[in-house]
Amino acid sequence: MPKDTLTITDNRTGKAYELPIEDGTIKAMDLRQIKVADDDFGLMAYDPAFLNTAACRSAITFIDGDKGILRYRGYPIEQLAEQASFLEVAYLLCEGELPNKAQLDKWEDQVRYHTYVHTNVIKFLEGFRYDAHPMGMLLGAVGALSTFYPDAKDLEDPTCRYLQRIRLVAKVPTLAAFAFRHSRGLPYEFPRNDLGYIANFVNMTFSIGGKHQPNPVLQRALEILLILHADHEQNCSTSAVRAVGSSQVDPFSAVSAGIAALYGPLHGGANEAVLRMLAEIGDKKNIPSFIEQVKQGHGRLMGFGHRVYKSYDPRAKLIKKVAYDVFQQTGLNPKLEIALELEKIALEDEYFIKRKLYPNVDFYSGIIYQAMGYPTDYFTVLFALGRLPGWIAQWEEMLRDKDTKIARPRQIYTGYDERPFVPMAKR
Ligand code: CMC
Repeated sequence: MPKDTLTITDNRTGKAYELPIEDGTIKAMDLRQIKVADDDFGLMAYDPAFLNTAACRSAITFIDGDKGILRYRGYPIEQLAEQASFLEVAYLLCEGELPNKAQLDKWEDQVRYHTYVHTNVIKFLEGFRYDAHPMGMLLGAVGALSTFYPDAKDLEDPTCRYLQRIRLVAKVPTLAAFAFRHSRGLPYEFPRNDLGYIANFVNMTFSIGGKHQPNPVLQRALEILLILHADHEQNCSTSAVRAVGSSQVDPFSAVSAGIAALYGPLHGGANEAVLRMLAEIGDKKNIPSFIEQVKQGHGRLMGFGHRVYKSYDPRAKLIKKVAYDVFQQTGLNPKLEIALELEKIALEDEYFIKRKLYPNVDFYSGIIYQAMGYPTDYFTVLFALGRLPGWIAQWEEMLRDKDTKIARPRQIYTGYDERPFVPMAKR
């Protein structure tokens, strides 16, 4: 009968250790018993980017990167993107099950009730420079919400945590829309509670003089994009939310840490980087030389590659379909042609095949956002709007997990051994 254990022989001492295996995992702390001497600290695992380290147990999102599978709470992303609303998906992620009609009605009502932000928020948003990056504004504004809701610090109370979830889902679109208006020098448009979640957000960004002609196809396309981004298990920004949240700070501060992580070009900023790359390529004829440069290590093909997906990102497949719906409404974007050709060439190239580099979620999302009228530096804000329910769900799960402790990795010290202080005159 095979045993669920791992036997390790330490060749430094000749001693053997038997470690339990649970869920295909050994506990890193079990390595600490492996010592050369009694006063030895014990063996550690070195994994700077968490390439092979499970930092938590989670029941929220399942990904099989080799097969290109993504499921939220067991439901395939394809079905959710086709049939669910964004608020329904947000409920599913945060509360654990699909809502029934009464639950969804209540959730929508509560979100609608909390869409307004304190008017002082407007005052500090006005302090940002006219050209402030909207993602920087969003990160500051969401963090600042913690000062408006000091009650959010009561992490022990599930009713209080529920209220903060509602507040975040309700207010982040308002802040995101204000950041958009700020960068265009437009007056802020306040939430309209007679509109649905997506319609209200679109109205707050595009309404001029209180008027906006909604386009249901574009609104549904935006909703699908948000659903596709809603969670992606332990990615960089979610890990940031969990790590910061593990200090038991309030959820607004924890989520603003997630926004900060998402801001980076290797994470959410990639959709922005894709557009800049397509603009730099400029014409289909320049694609081969661009690819050659990438292969020689000068830059990356943005929107390609993923830490987890080693086949086509299922979200990218769905987004490509959305792109066609959107372009039927808005007319063809010349950048789409360059993107399609770039994808075709890259997918046939040995360099990309060998490294299993396929288009990821960001390859097409930026072109769609642009066609919808959003400026390039706003794309990551849209990603943040989508990812928000995932961050909140993971934060809640982290708090409920009895294994949670403050995140505190170890290090391998590579600096000097002790040395005496050198007075200024002798340096
Ligand atoms: N273009 C060219 N080469 C690449 C790319 C790329 N986009 N991505 C990876 N490689 C190469 C890399 O140079 C390395 O080659 P070699 O083995 O010869 O050194 C190999 O592929 C493995 O790369 P890696 O950096 O070890 O892979 P990673 O898992 O650490 O990186 C990634 C994942 C997403 C950061 C990376 O693929 C990348 O930088 N992609 C471009 C940025 C991007 O599109 N990011 C959005 C990710 S999806 C949205 C999200 O979840 O945030």
